[in-house]
Amino acid sequence: EEEERLHIMISGPPASGKGTQCQLISHKYGLVHVSAGDLLRTEISTASPNGKLAKQFMEKGELVPDDIVVSMVTRRLSQPDSLLHGWLLDGFPRSLSQATSLHRSGHFLPHLFILLDVSEDILVDRVVGRRLDPLTGNIYHLKYSPPESDEIAARLTQRFDDTEEKVKLRLNTHRQNVESVLSMYKDITVKINGNVSKEEVFNQIDSALTNLLEQRKVALGKT
Ligand code: AP5
Repeated sequence: EEEERLHIMISGPPASGKGTQCQLISHKYGLVHVSAGDLLRTEISTASPNGKLAKQFMEKGELVPDDIVVSMVTRRLSQPDSLLHGWLLDGFPRSLSQATSLHRSGHFLPHLFILLDVSEDILVDRVVGRRLDPLTGNIYHLKYSPPESDEIAARLTQRFDDTEEKVKLRLNTHRQNVESVLSMYKDITVKINGNVSKEEVFNQIDSALTNLLEQRKVALGKT
């Protein structure tokens, strides 16, 4: 019997390392990385009406309205690659209403909810030093993950919402919503210490995923 593909959610405050860990996880486990923030930034780059509207909320560090985000995410999760390889959902759901909308159809239920726990002083430091490579999509940090060459360094960009002022607004939004989302997934939540190096964070996630796959094997063997 065909085993169902892995469905993983990852959550955590702004700049806690979600995107960084998603690159490592999808590289090892072959899951399709679906990032709500990345989908929104793509929408902004095409200057679509939804993109223009979304940017107004993102500039204030507020949640973009559900009608935009929910349909965008469910469409992405329904594409053939997500169905074939399984998915890793990053930054969604961010509110109870998003979680409820996502599961209304009975679909898109996660097997594991990863929560990155990072202290607030560290978050600000990670945000202001973050840089992105527009060519490869790789995430860098001037201090913790510097670019490998001058050529890469020269083309790095910074996100419009990566200032100390904006991250505080994003953090407030996160604080207001996190408990209600957590309550929905508490039975499948694994809390990860995100204060350590990215390799050490990944080791914790990797063992949680290994355990999950083991459990699923055992469960399948019993049927
Ligand atoms: P989104 O893009 O999701 O931003 P975010 O949640 O604030 O998270 P980030 O992308 O900033 O950080 P990250 O956790 O991925 O960290 P990263 O790996 O880059 O959302 C942006 C906006 O879009 C929201 O404010 C909202 O307006 C809107 N939006 C998104 N989803 C929405 C939704 N569901 N509903 C409504 N609106 C939505 O790492 C950060 C830095 O730290 C990097 O420089 C990295 O190199 C470094 N780093 C990572 N790990 C480590 C480590 N272990 N040690 C040292 N440095 C590290």
